[in-house]
Amino acid sequence: MYRVHLPGRSTNAAWRDAARRLASHRILAEKVEWTRELAGTGLFGFDPLPANDGAYEVTASKALIDLTGAVLCHSDPQAPALAYRLLLRHQYDRRALSNPADPLTQRLRRMEKSVRRDIHKMHAFVRFRELPTEGLRRSFAAWFEPQHFITERAAGFFAVRFADMDWLIATPDMTVTFRDGVLGFGPAPQQRPDLPDDASEALWATYFRNIFNPARVKISAMKSEMPVKYWKNLPETRLIPQMLAEADARVAAMRAAMPTDPPQRATRILDKLPAMPVANMPETLDQARDAAMSCTRCDLCQAATQTVWGEGDLNAALMIVGEQPGDQEDLQGRPFVGPAGTLLRELMEEAEISAVWLTNAVKHFKFKPRGKLRLHQNPNRGEVQHCRWWLDLERRFVAPRLTLALGATAAYALTGNPGPLQNRRGQSEQAMDGGPVLISWHPSYILRLSGKEAQSARSMLLQDLRHAARITI
Ligand code: URA
Repeated sequence: MYRVHLPGRSTNAAWRDAARRLASHRILAEKVEWTRELAGTGLFGFDPLPANDGAYEVTASKALIDLTGAVLCHSDPQAPALAYRLLLRHQYDRRALSNPADPLTQRLRRMEKSVRRDIHKMHAFVRFRELPTEGLRRSFAAWFEPQHFITERAAGFFAVRFADMDWLIATPDMTVTFRDGVLGFGPAPQQRPDLPDDASEALWATYFRNIFNPARVKISAMKSEMPVKYWKNLPETRLIPQMLAEADARVAAMRAAMPTDPPQRATRILDKLPAMPVANMPETLDQARDAAMSCTRCDLCQAATQTVWGEGDLNAALMIVGEQPGDQEDLQGRPFVGPAGTLLRELMEEAEISAVWLTNAVKHFKFKPRGKLRLHQNPNRGEVQHCRWWLDLERRFVAPRLTLALGATAAYALTGNPGPLQNRRGQSEQAMDGGPVLISWHPSYILRLSGKEAQSARSMLLQDLRHAARITI
């Protein structure tokens, strides 16, 4: 009987080394006992395994390596033995792996699926809390309890996704750290760390409240997407009992309040309708902002993380209006903090603009999910119309002397003219509420250009910003 003790880290490499050597001597699966270190970093040790490779060549296809790699993360103590059994079988029967009726293959495929699902859940459900730090990089920590030994496999995703911060994820079987761009693995903490609460909890709660659709409460589907075992470490799940209790009342309220997007041809008719009197009309900018936070005037609130309200100097003579929040803005709840915002802020500095109110025509991020990405979508006219309610309120309270419209959506929201910008950029038009609107390029448009075209569009936006600065001094 041979005994192989696998380490808690780099388990896959250690298993492959031992399995290849055993299989090269055609040592039967029944003759090998596999054990796995459950926590810590102990060294890979094995009792008298054959010191050298045996006479038989051992081959493994990529599909087999992928399957055994996933299976080895499974928490079933039998996982390394089953993977070895498959490796041996593969030496004389290549078809076993692709035979869905084979009981061993079936079992391993189920294990693989469960591991992949656990990795997916870890990617989705790790909730970082910010830690105090004196360094330049922000620092975060999270506690997560996976079902299988997946921490090492799942870590790469976080290194890519959160490359600009230092972070640590502690799990019951190991701790992953990411410091100054370097990924490291260490032993599990003795006990679950006590992490501070932070503002991101509120963000998750807002996000969850926004994606929770009371009209589609399907508790079993919810539990399958977000299994109950993960709930205790998810800040947003604390809202579930209350949201379920309120679901019926919210559905009734939604029915009463639900807006319908007008078909595009109806837009002009809608423009002509007199403004409807509204109860609870906000009387201050803060009241308007608070009301906008729970806006459901169109469907964009369903998928966006939160309403992104304007910000800046509320006594500013200049208002700059963009299209809608992007991915970063949606997550941070602030306008122009992503790549387009970086360009805009750089140009504003060059133009020496300091007092400004920055906002968007549409207050929710519209996107199409593509894998892990959220691809920007232009808001349609109906969405712009619905959101004009908030823009009008913002304009009433900020009362800018001049508004700079960035891009066609902002120009349409402010002037009602949906026409192309080619002949309008750099010109002043009249806003529907009366004030002057200077039309310019949107910084995202400039970011999509290259070479001379990008240079020229950039200097046009700078010229418009300088023009706006002169008028509003
Ligand atoms: N683009 C916009 O129009 N607004 C933002 O806030 C960010 C990107």
